[in-house]
Amino acid sequence: MSLSQIAKTISASPTLKLNEKAAILREKGDPVIHLGGGEPKSKAPMDAIISAVSNLNSAEVRYTPAEGIPALKKSIIRYTEEFYDRKVAPENVIASGGAKQAIMVALQAILNQQEEVIYPAPYWVSYPEMAKLCGAIGVPVLPEDGSFYPRIQDIEQRVGSYTKAIIINSPNNPSGAMYSEEFISDIVSFCEKKDIWLIMDDIYHRLIFDGRKPINCYKYAKNLTETSKLIVVNGVSKQYAMTGFRIGWAVGNKKVIEAMANIQGHQTSGPSVVLQKAAVGALNGIQSGVESLRLTLENNRNVMIDYLNSFEGVRVTKPDGTFYCFADFSNYNKSSNKLSEFLIDKVMVLTVPGAEFGMEGYLRLSYCGTIKEITEGIERMKWALDPNSPNELYIGDRKLVRDWS
Ligand SMILES: Cc1ncc(COP(=O)(O)O)c(C=O)c1O
Repeated sequence: MSLSQIAKTISASPTLKLNEKAAILREKGDPVIHLGGGEPKSKAPMDAIISAVSNLNSAEVRYTPAEGIPALKKSIIRYTEEFYDRKVAPENVIASGGAKQAIMVALQAILNQQEEVIYPAPYWVSYPEMAKLCGAIGVPVLPEDGSFYPRIQDIEQRVGSYTKAIIINSPNNPSGAMYSEEFISDIVSFCEKKDIWLIMDDIYHRLIFDGRKPINCYKYAKNLTETSKLIVVNGVSKQYAMTGFRIGWAVGNKKVIEAMANIQGHQTSGPSVVLQKAAVGALNGIQSGVESLRLTLENNRNVMIDYLNSFEGVRVTKPDGTFYCFADFSNYNKSSNKLSEFLIDKVMVLTVPGAEFGMEGYLRLSYCGTIKEITEGIERMKWALDPNSPNELYIGDRKLVRDWS
């Protein structure tokens, strides 16, 4: 079939594909444990629901401005003041269909064909595909010290004449690593010095543990004028457990935001007004849900780490935030895709292969589910992978028998 070059190079989102696989197995009645999820299980804030319902009740659900409704922009401006200590104008703000679209239109607004966008590995699965969608080239940078914490010199070495932008996602999906203040300060200064766009994907910035505080990149910016090439992306998906509402945003200089709005206007138009109203409700409403989600995730992380630490052969780095742990299973199988397939086939535990995030031998395990899912999921994995485990495992009244060694 004569599909476009771009279409031929874009692969399906592996996480969305895995969600589908889990749903199909569950529908068949299989007791699947989903450790591959990318969304909190708590409910959306009541203020979000009330706000959306009141818009729906008006029965007048119309188009919105391409860059978002004024009420949402106002809430984002207030949010930016609260968490980034920065006052911005409505023209510095765009609301999009999730942080995903905000990043996509930002890249479309700044990248030319063949130009490069750099991001540390492990990286969010969509960055390479987004670069391809722009006809540009994604350049992952593996920290040379083998950790999940990029060093400025690792990135500096990869920057060349084609480098147009750098994306930093901290705390990071999939590793949960929150990069140091020093690194954020260095990368902000470096990008200013080199005149490179810097996209801060801060979607998990409040979901952090052990007393950490969100890092404010603007604190290190010398250029806070309309020539600044710093773009900060955030959204309601993770912190307010509103993944299905599809509202995210970007804050940047007026020219780039205008370009992003022009692109978005032809791509999708402004996000649904109902969902923008919901986001306004979440941002302006009672905030206690964010802290209770954060506490739940921190507790879940502790349980997962304890269980994984007792799993001989698995190497774990304690996540600083998010709801992901990126563990090294290469002792069991060098191919993360094969291992992930083995685990779903044999013990119905869904994990995401590290190869999708640019690091082979790892699995991403989510702890956004229940404690029972975490503990039972890891127990099943242990049973499947440890050659000394008993021959049989009961899941409810279903008996699994080892037919592998
Ligand atoms: C690092 C990162 N950035 C952006 C997004 C997109 O978020 P949204 O649901 O708001 O589009 C995700 C979602 O998984 C993510 O993990």
